[in-house]
Formats: sequence, structure tokens, C-alpha cells
Amino acid sequence: MASISQVLSLAELESVALRNVSRITREYWTDGAGENSTVQGNTAAFDRYRLRPRALRNVSNIDMSVTVLGKKLSFPVGIAPSGWHKMADSMGEAGTAQAAKKAGTVMGVSMGTALGASTSSACSPEEIKVAGDSAVKFFQLYIFQNRKFTKELLKRVEKAGYDAIMLTVDTAVVGRRISEIRNRPHMPDFLKVISFGSQLEHEKAGFAIDSNLVWEEIIPWLRQHTKMQIWLKGILTAEDATLAVKCGVDGIIVSNHGGRQLDGCVATIDALPEIVAVVKGAIPVHMDGGIRRGVDVFRALAMGADFVWVGRPVLWGLAYDGRRGVELMLDILREELKICMGLTGCSSIKQITSDFLGSIENGRFAKFDDVRARL
Ligand SMILES: Cc1cc2nc3c(=O)[nH]c(=O)nc-3n(C[C@H](O)[C@H](O)[C@H](O)COP(=O)(O)O)c2cc1C
Repeated sequence: MASISQVLSLAELESVALRNVSRITREYWTDGAGENSTVQGNTAAFDRYRLRPRALRNVSNIDMSVTVLGKKLSFPVGIAPSGWHKMADSMGEAGTAQAAKKAGTVMGVSMGTALGASTSSACSPEEIKVAGDSAVKFFQLYIFQNRKFTKELLKRVEKAGYDAIMLTVDTAVVGRRISEIRNRPHMPDFLKVISFGSQLEHEKAGFAIDSNLVWEEIIPWLRQHTKMQIWLKGILTAEDATLAVKCGVDGIIVSNHGGRQLDGCVATIDALPEIVAVVKGAIPVHMDGGIRRGVDVFRALAMGADFVWVGRPVLWGLAYDGRRGVELMLDILREELKICMGLTGCSSIKQITSDFLGSIENGRFAKFDDVRARL
């Protein structure tokens, strides 16, 4: 394994980490649905937006803190929910939670943990909460046909001290992930039984995703069964963001599941502006997908996101050096964001606005807001 100081960017972290895992693990983490066009689009889209830095603005004190669920965080990057951290490190999600706590940020816990914990292939939601304490606030949820299971799970995570659920809404049906289908016979048992892959097996286990869900039914149902905040993960259009506000949800996460669901889908950074425009600050708007550099965090905030989450880089950090690898990954993003803020003339997160963004239109560099106004 390379020494810590050799890894200076998330690109380097990815390359070192993926060298040390099996092909099946690597493909499970890396690949998305279909031809991976959404996965690739998420990262590629960032570079279309270029920065317009300002000079001489006194950046001797840069404050990167933000508030999420009433808690002050050290910087605007959290750990997105993904299952099966024990594939990467024996501490699993408990180690990730400790890293989130040490970094002064938050972690979203994947529902896969609650299912896997019964086979000891994952940490339980309670264990993760104890390990990460106030860094563990969000529990990611899928609604299965077996509503009784969901009701019990809601009670359980509420009792464990979670503050909010993140209902993943981009999973009405399961995306067609080629490598998961191909690797399935060779996957670890817990992934075969519980992870997405065979609708038939899920149905047998009562864990089939409920494809019947509609806005008017599911939000009131959740409100009826939990006092935790309700956030929706997987919003990609102004229409759905408007409905989310109308239905009284507490926050949304602009996400396309890291490209693991709909191939050919809009990149999340491209979806963000129309969503921010209709939400108008009524509820927090977070985003994830393709964030690999501090400048990507800056771009997302400049477009109006209040906070961003990273998915795959967490798994690379874990595979590289367990809990410390996740801390390293967050430290790199923190350092890069700080430098980006210094060089653009922003000394607080509030100062990061769309004035700092531009894009090339018809061969000419133009202010982002001017381009949007012409649309
Ligand atoms: C291996 C893997 C497992 C994931 N599992 C879940 C999950 O159980 N629930 C969920 O809502 N999102 C899941 N996600 C999506 C992430 O929460 C997040 O939306 C996405 O990874 C962000 O994109 P990025 O990986 O480009 O940062 C998973 C992502 C990966 C890579």
C-alpha cells in the first residue's frame, strides 16, 4: 500500500484503492446502469462550468462551516449512503461513522445495513449511531412491499436517535447494472440475497421494492409513522421539486443514484439550477453525483446547493486505509475547497454565488446567469 502522503487527490485515491480490491468489488462500486453514460456524465458535466474569480477581497479567514439539521458542520460535504462497507474494511459503517464525526460532518446510513446486519455482513443502524454519534443523522430508506417491515424499521431508527430519513425516490424499479447481473453468481452471499439484482428473490423474501408509490400516499404515510424529518433523495426536475415542497417534505437531495439507476439521465450538476429556481429557499437543496474535487463542491454551491454528498470516494477511502482513508478523502476535499474559496475571493460559504460561474456558449465565455436568462 502506498504511504498516505502519496495520495493527494481523489483521482489518486481511486486508482490506488481499486488496485487493491477484487474485480467483483471494483465493478460493484464503479459501474452504473446500462452503458454507464449517467456515471460518466455526472463527473464530466462539472467541467462545462468555469469559475470567474474575484481579486483583492481579504480571504485571510475562510469559514467553510454550514448548518445541516440544526447542527454546525465543519464544511459542506457529507457521506452519501452506500451499502456493505465491510466489503472494504472490517469495521464497516462504524468506521465510516467515526470518520464523519472526526471530520465534523454527517453520514447517511444505507438501509442495506439494517438488512445486512441480521447476517452480520453489515453494522446495525444502532451500532453506527453509537460509533458516529451526532455525525449520524440521516437514515436512507426504500419502501418495500412489506410495509410492516418499513414501519418497524422506522420505529427502530427513530429510537436509535436518527433525526431524518432520506427516502430514495429514484428506485421505482431497479436499474439494469450489467456487471451486477454478470457477477451475481460470484458475489458474496449477502449481496446476492439482499442487494438489488433479482426481483424474484426479493419478492420471495418480502423485500421487493414497492413500485406503486405516489406522492399523495407515501408522504402522509411516512408522516403518520415517524416524527423524523422526511427528505427525498433522487429529485432531478423542477416539477418534482415543486411537488416535494407542496407535500411538505423537509429537504431534497438532487441525485441520480450515482448513475446506478437510469442510464442516459441528466447529470446532477445540470439538473440543479432549475430545481433551485423553483424551491426558492423554501427547503434545503442538497446534491450528489460525480463530486471528486473541491472545485466541484464550489460549483454545486455556486449553483445554489446548500450541501453536497460523496458516494464512491468514501468506498475508495475505506479500501485504502479504513476509517483513516475516509478522513484523508474528506481532508483532501476540504483543502481543495478552501484553496478554491481563497482564489475566487470567498471567505464564507454564503458568499459563493452564481456570480462566480460562467460557461462557454457559442464559443464565447459568458456569465452563468446571463446564459440562463437567455434560455
Ligand atoms: C456501491 C454503491 C452503493 C450505493 N447504495 C445506495 C443505497 O443503498 N441507497 C441509496 O439511496 N443510494 C445508494 N448509492 C448512491 C449514493 O448514495 C450516491 O447517490 C451516489 O453514490 C453519489 O454519486 P458518486 O458516487 O458519484 O459520489 C450507492 C452508491 C454506490 C456507489
